[in-house]
Amino acid sequence: MDIKNYRDDWQRSRRDSARAIIRMGDDKLALVYATKLGYYKFPGGGIHQDEDKSAALIREVQEEVGLVVIPQSIKEYGVVHRFQKSGKIADTVFVQDSFYYTCDVESDKIINQNLDDYEDKAGFELRIVSIKEALDANLKYRDDDDFNIVMITRDTRVFAMLLGVPVEPSRCMAEYLLSEGVAKNPGPWREHSLAVARAAEKIALAVNKNCGTERLNPEHAYIYGLLHDIGRQEGYSYIAHVYDGYHFLMSLGYENAARICLTHSFNLKTTEDYIGKIDITDQQMEEIKKLLASVEYDDYDRLIQLLDSTCGADGTQNLEKRMGDVKARYGYYPQPKWDKNFELKEYFEHLAGQDLYDIIRE
Ligand SMILES: [Fe+2]
Repeated sequence: MDIKNYRDDWQRSRRDSARAIIRMGDDKLALVYATKLGYYKFPGGGIHQDEDKSAALIREVQEEVGLVVIPQSIKEYGVVHRFQKSGKIADTVFVQDSFYYTCDVESDKIINQNLDDYEDKAGFELRIVSIKEALDANLKYRDDDDFNIVMITRDTRVFAMLLGVPVEPSRCMAEYLLSEGVAKNPGPWREHSLAVARAAEKIALAVNKNCGTERLNPEHAYIYGLLHDIGRQEGYSYIAHVYDGYHFLMSLGYENAARICLTHSFNLKTTEDYIGKIDITDQQMEEIKKLLASVEYDDYDRLIQLLDSTCGADGTQNLEKRMGDVKARYGYYPQPKWDKNFELKEYFEHLAGQDLYDIIRE
């Protein structure tokens, strides 16, 4: 998990950790629940200097939840590499490898917790819960602290892996990524992304209401809208923002959101009609073409394509006007691409049973 919100020449502060995946029956885990905050995490924590990883695992599990790990049961599961700007020390990158282990605990032994200040304030408690419940709680969880957001996102991703479901960013994580991206490359793309996100959520709600079923997940629609242009964090760019955004979100495990970065500029599924400079290598272009060919567009792709062409950074919320602005800026707008956007507008108006502008301006 590389948040890329630091400079490569900054110093590094490293603190590795060991974390326990303790299964309790088929679909349940023994987890730490932060009762005062509302998130779940795997028991575990920092490895002391000269401490063995397994010893750290056993110690941390005892301290955080009072369970006794059976040493012979410890098996390696995987490692998460984490890089982010340090919240504590200026011009420093926080680097952490979290080593995850599956293990069993002694069933009849619970000893006293021994919490540090932060853990005590958060109200750490042992909870035996289903993985789904933990995943859902974390996806709803909000925090202002950068360190917590990324820490919780890390364990959320492991919950999703254990369940075998796609990993989605939480709303909080998506907003954090956008704010960090805009801090790196300030520009009107922040307002544009927010406008697309809000409109996408409203349309998803309107579609569901009209169809009488949850056809689109409004939360996902918002998040995909918010992150569709995240590639712009790398600087002023054209088609490169599609490529960069896709790879950034893939590196965080967000396959669905990454796909939207890739597809949002190509409503006809071709790169031939791209409006703007081709500022990527031939090889990168080939990669985009191959990826596009392998994707089956769904309603989220279509929705963000439509809204990307409807919502301007200046508050514009009109398809014809925004496409007209783009045409004036670049000197052209391919007719089939233009027509396709009106087809998408009709498509969603049909699904929602309402005028597009009435929905998004409400
Ligand atoms: Fe874009």
